[in-house]
Amino acid sequence: MGDVYTWRDALTQVASIAGWDLWDKHESRVIEELVGKIFSDLNFIYSSVHKDLVGIKTRVNNMMNSYLQLGLNDVHFIGIWGMGGMGKTTLAQVIYVRINHKFEGSCFIANIRGKSGDSWLVPLQKQLLSDILIESNIYIRNIQWGINVIKRRLCCKKVLIILDDVDQYEQLEPLVGEQDWFGQGSRIIITTRNQHLLIQHKVSEAEIYEAKKLNNDEALQLFSMKAFKKDSPLEGYVELSQEIISYASGLPLALKVLGSFLFHRSIDAWKCAIRRLKESPEREILYILQISYDGLKEREKKIFLDIACFFNRKCEDYVVNILQTLYDQPIIDIDVLKEKSLITTSRGKKLLMHDLLQELGMQIVRRESPENPSQ
Ligand SMILES: Nc1ncnc2c1ncn2[C@@H]1O[C@H](COP(=O)(O)OP(=O)(O)O)[C@@H](O)[C@H]1O
Ligand SMILES: [Mg+2]
Repeated sequence: MGDVYTWRDALTQVASIAGWDLWDKHESRVIEELVGKIFSDLNFIYSSVHKDLVGIKTRVNNMMNSYLQLGLNDVHFIGIWGMGGMGKTTLAQVIYVRINHKFEGSCFIANIRGKSGDSWLVPLQKQLLSDILIESNIYIRNIQWGINVIKRRLCCKKVLIILDDVDQYEQLEPLVGEQDWFGQGSRIIITTRNQHLLIQHKVSEAEIYEAKKLNNDEALQLFSMKAFKKDSPLEGYVELSQEIISYASGLPLALKVLGSFLFHRSIDAWKCAIRRLKESPEREILYILQISYDGLKEREKKIFLDIACFFNRKCEDYVVNILQTLYDQPIIDIDVLKEKSLITTSRGKKLLMHDLLQELGMQIVRRESPENPSQ
């Protein structure tokens, strides 16, 4: 009995520091919540530090306080809207890690862009169900079948679902058709470049968060982290840096790519980049990104294009194996592309290229061989 009291006392103390009320809760439930909270905070800190994110706390807090409203018990569809490269996926990932332990089941479906028809959407329905219910082998014959299973199995579950990079209205209906498909307190977050699609899906305007570009200080910090491996510009580069970031329009992707491109380059190279940026039509993002591509060596360019056309989101070992049959030591080139922020590796060891960079790659291929791009 004494032990139980001590244990409970300790928990009460910890909980009171965290600002919780324990009165009616069983110890095991408290421990579960506590562990969840610690993991989520650790993950949050880890992901922020690990990925060198700038200004993410403000954005997450804004979402938590005004859009997500986790205290409310009804079901909410929430949109994150903004142009490509603005940080929608990143924000959604950080939020997911931060809050998923508060739900009975959760699922993050990445890269929905371009997926349509039974052959794409049925597997996504399966992924949604199996991630939330932690069950494999869920049988779904077609989209309508999947809709019925989702409604039946999830209507009493408090779930968190993130659908990332939705680009067609038809992708929403089979996965998250109506609010009453899900249990009380569920949150469904949809990220997209197309605000209209959210309105079409009856997401209220008050629940559409427009991804905010980085302000000048944040932009300078992110750019400097890539261009100088420090939080602010080196002496002699302050004005040049300001000029460069004015072309990136607060877009994290552009800041990373430009900063990485200019790392260790001479002042002349910086001035040359500025001259090219001045020519950019309306600060068009693909034009800005191409400056980095143009600075690559021939082999690096080829491998960049190979990845854009064939290997995005494929396992890195598999890609290296294939590229080895074509090039000597492709790992060196892959490392260069990583240093230039043109690709990254996911935690699951997959090669990832941002969809705008992939689009750039495909555009270059089409431009270079308009007759036969597949070659
Ligand atoms: N707040 C941020 N701080 C630093 N880098 C960021 C931030 N937000 C996004 N990024 C980086 O910018 C790039 C584009 O972000 P992403 O989330 O993929 O954009 P979107 O989904 O809107 O196209 C990624 O490389 C990401 O790591
Ligand atoms: Mg995205």
